[in-house]
Amino acid sequence: MMGRKPIYTRVYNQLRYQILSGELAIGSPLPPERKLAEQLEVSRNTIVRAYTELEAEGLIFSRMGSGRFVEALTPAYASPRNHWHQRAYSTLASAPSHMAELLAVTDKYPDTINFAHGDGGKHTLESSGFSDYVKSSAEQLHSYYFTSVQGLPELREHLVDWMDMEQISSSEQIVITSGSQEGLFLITSLLARPGDLVVTEMPTYFGSLQLFQSLGMQIVPVPMDAEGMRIDVLEGILARCRPRMLYTVPTYHNPTGWTMSLSRRKQLLALSEKYELPIVEDDAYRHLHLEKEPPPSLKSLDQSGNVIYLNTFSKLLFPGLRVGWVAANRPFAQLLTRMKELSITTNTLGQLALAAFLREGALKPHLEVVRQQYREQAAIMAGHLDRFFPLGIRYEHPAGGFYFWVSLPEEIHARKLMNDCAKQGVSFTCGDMFLSREAEQPFIRLCFTHERSEQIDRGMRIIDDVLQTRKE
Ligand SMILES: Cc1ncc(COP(=O)(O)O)c(C=O)c1O
Repeated sequence: MMGRKPIYTRVYNQLRYQILSGELAIGSPLPPERKLAEQLEVSRNTIVRAYTELEAEGLIFSRMGSGRFVEALTPAYASPRNHWHQRAYSTLASAPSHMAELLAVTDKYPDTINFAHGDGGKHTLESSGFSDYVKSSAEQLHSYYFTSVQGLPELREHLVDWMDMEQISSSEQIVITSGSQEGLFLITSLLARPGDLVVTEMPTYFGSLQLFQSLGMQIVPVPMDAEGMRIDVLEGILARCRPRMLYTVPTYHNPTGWTMSLSRRKQLLALSEKYELPIVEDDAYRHLHLEKEPPPSLKSLDQSGNVIYLNTFSKLLFPGLRVGWVAANRPFAQLLTRMKELSITTNTLGQLALAAFLREGALKPHLEVVRQQYREQAAIMAGHLDRFFPLGIRYEHPAGGFYFWVSLPEEIHARKLMNDCAKQGVSFTCGDMFLSREAEQPFIRLCFTHERSEQIDRGMRIIDDVLQTRKE
């Protein structure tokens, strides 16, 4: 006996809950008595009693020789059933869960040399001195409860100055969000409904794919080349269908590292005007050039107000900060603020610390330092990648951003290589994560910014060993 209730009622209640909630699907088998008894560390009699009660209630049935199964629900349960579980989760459950898979890398392999995550790593954060701003901002917290829904006014003012774009002249045009992912979620929820078409580069950032798919959008992929999205293909698409929005990462694209040329940017804007197609420009990597500065943002070339601009501090400082922003024309920013209100506001402490960081002019020198660091780190990774050339492995040196997009010859299977390397203590991301459909993708993505130089060197040697062992 547990408490005053017999133990079997606990087992009975648990199973009944699982059946009625749909966790155990109709027709699915129940574990054999002995196995369940062992698993729950109770006697077999307890299980028999629980099963007998469930059977008497018509929730399960037994089939001679093959065990017990969940019954199609009896009218008493069946009539008012709403199936809300299945309904609520249907699009979410069918979309791949790459974000969770990626974030779990360090849980599964805590000591891994991490080329999988897309961030600046601990050393970026340390050299930024940002924690001092967090500490001093924490002391002001007593006077702040929530910031305004749209975001801390001072932070928005600094962002207007920092972006320095004719089109964004007022803090009223900025909405602070919990990372740019929330910004994209809000924008997409305003512009499109389930079933609507969303155009995007392919491959592309899996967080955006997961979001569109989970919201029930249909993704229209546009191929890319080294000049960015293929505008000729896009033109053909727009002549045939009416997408609700276009999402692009034109600068140091994730995962390819490619940057849209100035002429394509202009062509894209012309098409957007012609078809009144809103463009969501995700500019997460703009300030992380390794060589010269990139072409101007689409937003700064925008003459019709069709571009909705998205950026984040995740790549400039660290992703756990969860502060990003949207810049758009005033009416859209207002609508977005109404939508943002549904999740109240973005965290106060992060915004206060960022406002102080920008007020003190700390961002510019920080970026100069990290660009130099990343340049060195990229060079080390490239040096190793060059040695893989005889194996048929190819890459292009990115002009900025965080990644090497590495193509593999046919005989090297990306997922297998990833699993073999993970076992040896190195993780990276497989190319298929960046596609909207399940398909083999002979690419891997290596992030060169997360680990320090020595670790990059060690990790690349391990990949080299794995590749050599394969060959033998
Ligand atoms: C293109 C792009 N946009 C957005 C993000 C994520 O931004 P946030 O952390 O602000 O949601 C990433 C992260 O990998 C990215 O590559």
